[in-house]
Amino acid sequence: MTRKLFVTTALPYANGPFHIGHIMEYIQADIWVRFQRMQQDEGKKREVHFVCADDAHGTPIMIAAEKEGITPQQFVAKVAATRQQYLDGFHIQFDNWHSTDSTENVELSQTIYRRLRDEAKLITTKTVERFYDPVKNMFLADRNIKGECPKCGAKDQYGDNCEVCGAAYEPTELKQPYSVLTGAAPILKPAEQYFFKLSDPRCAAFLQTWLNTPGRLQPEMVNKVSEWLGNNGEDLADWDISRDAPYFGIPIPDAPGKYFYVWLDAPVGYLASLKNYCDKKGITYDALLNDPAAEQVHFIGKDIVSFHLLFWPAMLKFSGHPIIDQLKVYVHGHLTVNGEKMSKSRGTGISPLRYLEVGMNPEWLRYYLASKLNAKVEDLDFSPDDFIAKVNSDLIGKYVNIASRCSGFISKIFDGKLSFANTSATDSATIDYAHYQKAAIASGEAIMAHYEAREFGKAIREIMLLTDLYNQFIDQKKPWELAKQTDSQSRMQLHAICSLAIEMFRILTLLLKPILPKLAEQVETMLNISPLLWSDLATCLPDGHRIHPYSHLMTRVDPKMLPALFEASSAPASSSASTKKVPSPQSSPSDTEEGVISIQDFAKVDLRIAKIVNCEHVEGSDKLLRLTLDAGEEGRLRNVFSGIKSAYQPEELIGKLTVMVANLAPRKMKFGISEGMVLAASAADEKTSPGIYILHPWPGAEPGMRVS
Ligand code: 2FM
Ligand code: ZN
Repeated sequence: MTRKLFVTTALPYANGPFHIGHIMEYIQADIWVRFQRMQQDEGKKREVHFVCADDAHGTPIMIAAEKEGITPQQFVAKVAATRQQYLDGFHIQFDNWHSTDSTENVELSQTIYRRLRDEAKLITTKTVERFYDPVKNMFLADRNIKGECPKCGAKDQYGDNCEVCGAAYEPTELKQPYSVLTGAAPILKPAEQYFFKLSDPRCAAFLQTWLNTPGRLQPEMVNKVSEWLGNNGEDLADWDISRDAPYFGIPIPDAPGKYFYVWLDAPVGYLASLKNYCDKKGITYDALLNDPAAEQVHFIGKDIVSFHLLFWPAMLKFSGHPIIDQLKVYVHGHLTVNGEKMSKSRGTGISPLRYLEVGMNPEWLRYYLASKLNAKVEDLDFSPDDFIAKVNSDLIGKYVNIASRCSGFISKIFDGKLSFANTSATDSATIDYAHYQKAAIASGEAIMAHYEAREFGKAIREIMLLTDLYNQFIDQKKPWELAKQTDSQSRMQLHAICSLAIEMFRILTLLLKPILPKLAEQVETMLNISPLLWSDLATCLPDGHRIHPYSHLMTRVDPKMLPALFEASSAPASSSASTKKVPSPQSSPSDTEEGVISIQDFAKVDLRIAKIVNCEHVEGSDKLLRLTLDAGEEGRLRNVFSGIKSAYQPEELIGKLTVMVANLAPRKMKFGISEGMVLAASAADEKTSPGIYILHPWPGAEPGMRVS
C-alpha cells in the first residue's frame, strides 16, 4: 500500500524574515521528506505532500503593519516575498507555500468552529476579565504581555506559554504583567469571550488514548502532556479562542466584533495549505484527508507543544477528522551556539541570509545539522570548530575524496568506461566486490531505519563507517601506485579497483542524498545515471557503463568565513511588536554581595543610542525639557521628559545622539507620559557642583545601537 504522507513544519509568523531556527526545522523535515520520496519501489511507495504557509494573523503583525503605515495584508505579502530565497538557498523543497490569511483558511477555520459548536457542543461563552493597555487603549494579545511564569517563576515570559518550563496558561495568570507595547501595567476589563471546552471529559478521555498510542509521540512529550492532563484530565482548562476587534484575524461566525485567536486558525493553516495545493494539483482534498492510508506529520519546536498536543488534536478529533488517528507530532529542541542560547545582542545569532550571502555552501549546514539531529527533544549545538571539522574531514576528506582520487583514472586511462568483468585477473577484487556490496546493503537497512526514525546523526555515523571501510579498500589497493605501471595486468587491476571505487561512491551518494540533494544531483550527472532511489542500493552499475569526467563537487570550509555568519545587534529588542522569541537572560540565584549586581541584572537594562530629533520647553515646568527620541525603532519615536533644563537650551540638543534606557516602564507625569530616560552625569552634591552633563557617544554610534 502506498503511504500517503501529509507533512508540515510549524507555520512561521509573517512578522519578519526567517531566522536560523526556522531553517533548522525545515532542513530536518526536508531530509525526512526526501528520504521518504526516495522509496518508490512496490510495497514501500510513498506519496508525500510537504506544505507550509505564513502564519499571518494576530495583533503583533497588525501593529507592525500600522507602524509602517500599510495594511496587514501588505505587510504579510512583503514578508512572504522574502521566503523563497531562503528555501531555494538551503534546498528546502516544500510542495506548497500558502498563508493563513487565505480563503481556504477562513472557510476551514469557520467550518471546524461550526462543527465544534453545533455538533460536538464544545464551544461556550463566558465573561472574563482581559488585559487592556491603558496607554494604547486596546485589549492586549497574549504575546504583547509579559511577566513571570505562574508555574516556575521565570521572568519575561509571554502571556500564553512559558519558554522555560513549557507550561501553557492564561495571560491573567502571569505575575507582574506588563504591556510589551508600552511597558504599562495592563488593567483588567470585562469582555465576553468564546471558549473551546477542553475541560469537557470527552477531550481528556480522547487525549489520554491519543497520547499514549505507541509510536505517536516522543516519550518525553507523552510525559509532559500527561502532566498537563493531570488526573483524568482534571487540570485541563477551557481555551479562550476569541479576540476583540481591532484584530487581524478570521471573524468568528455569528459573533460580531469577535475574531479567532491566532492560535486557533494557525494549525488550520496546515489544512488550508494542503487544500490550496490539492486544488492546484487536481487532487481531491477530502478524499486525501479521509484516506485510511494518509498520515499527518508535524515537525515543530519544543516551545509550541501545548498548542499541538492538546488543542489541535482535540479540535481535529471533535470536528470529525479521521486523520487524527494517524497524526504524529515530531518535536525538536532549539539551536544553541557554543552551548549557549543564540543572542543577537551578544553577536551569537547565526544569520541564515548572511550564510548564503558570504557564499557558504548550504549543504555544509545541512550535513552538519543532520550529523547532530536525533529523535529526542534535545537542543542542538552549533560549534564553528566542530562545523569546520565535520565538513572538511568527513564530507570532503572521506566522501568526496573517493571520487576525486579514483574517477580521473577512469576518464583518462579507460575512456570513462567502468569494468567489473576483469576482476578475476586481480588479486581479490571479485571477493572484495561481494564483501563491500554486502556491507552496503546491511548498512543501508540500518541507515533507512535511522532516517525513518529521524536519527540523522546515527545515519551519518553509519554512513561514515561505510566510507571508512571504502577508504581502507582504496588505501590498500593504492590505485595511484598501480597507475604508474603500464603492463596489462596492472591496468586491469587499476580498472577494476577504480570501477569499484566509483560504485562505492555511488552507494555513499545514495545514502547521503536526503541530506545532500544538490551534490547527489551533480554526482548523478557525473556518473551518468538516473536519480538515485533506495532500490538502487541493491543494484550495481553495469559493466562498460560510461561516466563523465570528474567535475569539482565541493570545496572545504574556509574558517575565515565563519565570523561573518554572526549577526550583530542593530535594532532594539523592543523596536517592533515582533513575536520572535528572543530569550531574555534569566536571573540566576544571587551570589553577589549587597549593592553589587550580577551581569544578568545589568543585562536587564536596555541601554540604547538615541537621536534627539526634537527638544522643547515644557510649559509650566522649570526643570524639564521634552525630548523626542529616535532609538532606531522603525518609525516609532519616544517622548521623554528630562530634568536637564538648567543645563541646556533645546536647540543645543536637537540632532545630537545620547544614551537612553529603552525598557523603562512608561511613567505618567503631569505633562504627559515619559517613555524612557536619557542618561546624564551630575555630581553627588548638586549644590556645590551644579552641572548636568548629558551622555554623548563617540562618532560612529547610530540610533538603536545597544550600549553594553
Ligand atoms: O510559534 C510560531 O512561530 C507559530 N507561528 C507557529 C504556528 S504553527 C501552526 F500552528 F501553524
Ligand atoms: Zn515556567
